[in-house]
Formats: sequence, structure tokens, C-alpha cells
Amino acid sequence: MKFPGDKSISHRALMFAALANGKSIIHNLSTGADVESTRKCLADCGIRSEKDGNSVAVFGGTLRKPEKPLDAGNSGTTARLLTGLLIGQGISAEIIGDKSLSARPMNRIVEPLAKMGAKIESNNGKLPLRFEKFLLHGIVFSPEIASAQVKSAVLFVALGADGKTTIRESFKSRDHTEILLKKLGAEIEISKNLISLEPTKTQFRPFEMTIPGDPSTAAFFAATGVLIQKKEIVLKNVLANPTRIGFFAALEKMGDGIEYLNQREIFGEFVCDMKISCKPLKAIQTRKSDVPRLIDELPIFAVLATQAEGKTTVRGAEELRKKETDRIHAIVVNLRKMGAEIEEFDDGFAIIGKQKLHGAEIQTFDDHRIAMAFTIAGLIADGDVILDNPDCVKISCPEFFKMLRVF
Ligand code: S3P
Repeated sequence: MKFPGDKSISHRALMFAALANGKSIIHNLSTGADVESTRKCLADCGIRSEKDGNSVAVFGGTLRKPEKPLDAGNSGTTARLLTGLLIGQGISAEIIGDKSLSARPMNRIVEPLAKMGAKIESNNGKLPLRFEKFLLHGIVFSPEIASAQVKSAVLFVALGADGKTTIRESFKSRDHTEILLKKLGAEIEISKNLISLEPTKTQFRPFEMTIPGDPSTAAFFAATGVLIQKKEIVLKNVLANPTRIGFFAALEKMGDGIEYLNQREIFGEFVCDMKISCKPLKAIQTRKSDVPRLIDELPIFAVLATQAEGKTTVRGAEELRKKETDRIHAIVVNLRKMGAEIEEFDDGFAIIGKQKLHGAEIQTFDDHRIAMAFTIAGLIADGDVILDNPDCVKISCPEFFKMLRVF
């Protein structure tokens, strides 16, 4: 089975193509609505792009001030990274989003960008954000939370600053922005959790790249295979960046065998075919340092935990409450509806397995990963699972139900 392109890399590829001077071509772009939000916002800033299937040609190099507010839709990555990109390029804009995005914290970018010289007007730390052109300086920044969105916003601003920016992360978050910057020839140095970036003196050259399959989408199919007790599953062409494969590392600890085959590098990113030998699951305990590498996979991980022998605990995952919805609450409410026992903590949950699940009406809270996780929970439940909004899967994977039918 193959997967649409990784969502995080797709956003960044479009944004760097917008900065590059000329025509860039991106293959296997994510099909999700979030990435389309980024493409549309860039179009509103004068960046023309043409889609041909899952490939897109982007004509970059000449960003201009948008005539209307830029609508990031449901996408935190669009709102936060685009703010950094536009400020770094001296473009004034207003960024808005849907109801869920408008409730999510933006101070996490407003504060470090203010230290770099940007004055961003916000609605009490939330969207809409409004900003203009500023004189920007490099900073030394140690983020309090492991967030690739915050780190990337700072890196985009740093491109237009008057000196070097240094970021030291306590827990390494996904590093696709750094990898692309390096690939495109930016003056960036990366050593473990320390990054330093010099401002760009010339525009990037256009590029052609293929986006690897999204491991966050692949995780749902790996989980399906394990839960319906397939013997073996092969997931082809999956991004295997170490900052993204925490779910698969967890699956291995739970007892499944994973082989990372045909390992290769594509445009600076590790890619492989994963062969999973499915075995009965044992409970595991995740630590705070594991969280950044599997944060988006925790809803499906919780479903798996109901079928693992013993007590699974997830702690240090308070960031899960700040996603498209409060995902700890969404996991707890819906697993309880399906008859499972789950203990809720401020920063995680505990589940003792194995438990029988029954059908229920699931509240997705319009969150794509909750909708997908509970569809899969439904595959092993007695009775039907009915989602209040199945359509929200389109945010990251519009083809989810179709792919599940043929799996
Ligand atoms: C993302 C970073 C993560 C992740 C999100 C995508 C990115 O968010 O949860 O789905 O592409 O940079 P945070 O930066 O808030 O941790």
C-alpha cells in the first residue's frame, strides 16, 4: 500500500517553492485540505501554481501583499509557518482561520517573533493575526515547547533578519524545515538539537522534488492491520525521518516486528518500505521525550492500547489538548462511549487492556485524526460505529475510507 505525500513536508515544499525564483515542481503533494489552504493563501500573495494530479508546478519569487485576509482554514501549520514566511519577506497580511483554528494558541509564535522585531496584532493571543513590514534581528531562542511550527516560523523570519538566529530545542521536533533549508543551499548548521541560520542573501533556486508517503497516515493502516490480525503488512514509500516514526517505534516495543526495507534518501529525507509482522500487543509506557515523535499518532495509539495486554500510559502529552480539538478529551469521551475504561490525566491517559469495544456514536469534534482513529476502533467493535462528521478526514487524507475498503 502507498500513501499520499507527507502533510508537513508538503506545506513546507509549497512555501519554499514560493520563495524560490522561478518554476518549482513538487510531486506526490499531500491531497489534504490543509495543504490546499497553504496553496490558496500563497495564491492570494501572488504565487501562481498549477496542479496536475498530485503534482504541482509553483511559480515563485514574487510574493506580494494580499488584498484580503489569508484563510488558513483548519491548518495550524499554514497559519504559523505562513506568518513567519511573510514577516521574513516584509509582506503585510492578516491571517484568519476556521472556528477550531481560531481557538488555538498563537502566542507561541507571537512572542518569539516579537523578540525578532515583529509586532503582531492578535486577538488575545489567537487569530486573526495582523502584521506589517519590520526591521528584523536574529535571536537566540530556546523554545519552551517542542513545536516544529514555532521553530519553523522563527526560521522563516530568520531568513529576512539582519544577523544569525540560533535555536536550541530541549526535545527535537520534526526537522523538515531545516532539511529543506539545507537542501536549498541556505547557510544553516544543525548539530543535534542546536540549529543556527544566517539570513539569505540571494533567492533560492527553483527545485523539483517528490514528497515521501505520510507516516502519520500510514500509522492508521499499520494499526488496522495489527488490530484485524493480518499476518504481515507492507507500507511502501513511507517517510522514515527519525523525528516522525515514534508510532512505529512504539509498535515495535509493543511486540510487533518492523523491518525498514529499501532505505533511501529523497531530497534530504529518509524514506523506506516498512514490513510489519503483526503479533499480539503488550502495553508500554511512553515518556515525555517520546511525545514529539508520535504526537499526531496518539489517537490511534490509544485505540491500539485497548487491545494491548497490561497498562499503557501516556504522560507528558499536554500539547495534545492544543490540537485541532482537545485530543485527550476526545479520546477519553469516545473510548468511554465504546465501553472502554480509560483514566484521564492533564497530560495524557492510562488504559488497561485488553478490553472489548462496542459500537457507539462518535463525536469527532471535526478532527480528522479522531475520525480516522475511531473508524478503525469500529473495525474491532461489536456493533456499528457512527461518526458525526466523517467528512473531516479530508483535512489530511480525503481518500481514507476508499483506502480502508481496499486494505
Ligand atoms: C506540524 C507540527 C506539529 C504537528 C502538526 C504538524 C508541522 O505541531 O502536531 O500536525 O508540520 O510542523 P506542533 O508544532 O504544534 O507541535
